[in-house]
Amino acid sequence: MLDLLFQRRSIRKYKDVKVEKEKVEQLVQAALLAPSARSVYSQRFIVIDDKDLLNRLSKAREQGSSFLKDAPLAIVVLGDSSVIDVWTEDATISATMIQLVAESLGLGSCWIQIRNRQHSSSKTSEEYIQDILEIPSEIRVQCIIAIGYPGEEKPPRSQKDLNYDRVFYNAYRN
Ligand SMILES: Cc1cc2nc3c(=O)[nH]c(=O)nc-3n(C[C@H](O)[C@H](O)[C@H](O)COP(=O)(O)O)c2cc1C
Repeated sequence: MLDLLFQRRSIRKYKDVKVEKEKVEQLVQAALLAPSARSVYSQRFIVIDDKDLLNRLSKAREQGSSFLKDAPLAIVVLGDSSVIDVWTEDATISATMIQLVAESLGLGSCWIQIRNRQHSSSKTSEEYIQDILEIPSEIRVQCIIAIGYPGEEKPPRSQKDLNYDRVFYNAYRN
């Protein structure tokens, strides 16, 4: 498992190759297997493989989302805010699980933040996506995970990348 974590990097360029149905199914299973506060399973997901939709979603952010237009697949990670206040935590765990299983399947992925981000000065990224995908207002949009076979190579992390200054034992002091 740790090997997988060292290996995973954000991949923003993808080969023009479809992700097989069986792999999409495994990504969906990963999303659904994530833990959830009070077991209410507030997470919701929209799997997108339609080129036109991917192109429109790539414009969700003023910057930081344009690479989605060339991805063959995306999973929009949502949370039902009417069932729990910590829907954002539930959603982010699912998003992370999707990224790790993508890595294990030889796929590259990258998180695109949507919550608390702007599409334009007058519209949030969330409103922009809710309109396109017909998402009701209580179903909040956390992020989009862009997925595809890697079209770029990035070096894996190594021990020297780990900053242990960020870690404390028994109190916030060295
Ligand atoms: C909460 C969160 C939001 C992120 N938002 C974006 C984003 O909107 N666009 C993007 O290209 N990358 C985004 N990323 C990816 C980060 O830029 C990336 O994880 C970071 O640079 C570390 O690189 P690595 O994933 O290769 O280890 C996000 C990552 C996280 C965890």
